[in-house]
Amino acid sequence: MEILTGENNKTLRQKSLPVKHINAEVRSLIEQMKEVIRQNNGVGLAAIQIGEPTRIIICEIDDKFYTFINPEIIKFFPETSVIEEGCLSLPNIYGEVERPKKITLKAINFDGKKVKMKAFGLLARVIQHELDHLDGVLFIDKAKKITKQTRKTAAL
Ligand code: NI
Repeated sequence: MEILTGENNKTLRQKSLPVKHINAEVRSLIEQMKEVIRQNNGVGLAAIQIGEPTRIIICEIDDKFYTFINPEIIKFFPETSVIEEGCLSLPNIYGEVERPKKITLKAINFDGKKVKMKAFGLLARVIQHELDHLDGVLFIDKAKKITKQTRKTAAL
């Protein structure tokens, strides 16, 4: 499975649509996303990055795996931080992005249950980055200092 790349990629720039029914097709898409994130050493992935314009994001942090279907951030806490981000869809590009440190998220999980949770630290950062993908927004649209380099930390 290939990851779409490029800041001008038309698919990456489109808005993803909500999931209506959590069926076998949706679950198989999530399994594919899981494989892609592991093969590429990522910490987060949105379905659109593998060409599916569907509102699903996954995150894997410290061996903990999260699936969020139709995610919505219902609260941004006021305190922000500036952290360098990368993205599997923008290889070798990094940029410092300011985002709220803490959020409240509403979503549906892999089992089809509604979840509401507070997230902070890396998880809050990854969720915000992935949610932007669902609206066709890439981190470089928000980054202040962009650098090109081959290295390094896991990409979102
Ligand atoms: Ni990304």
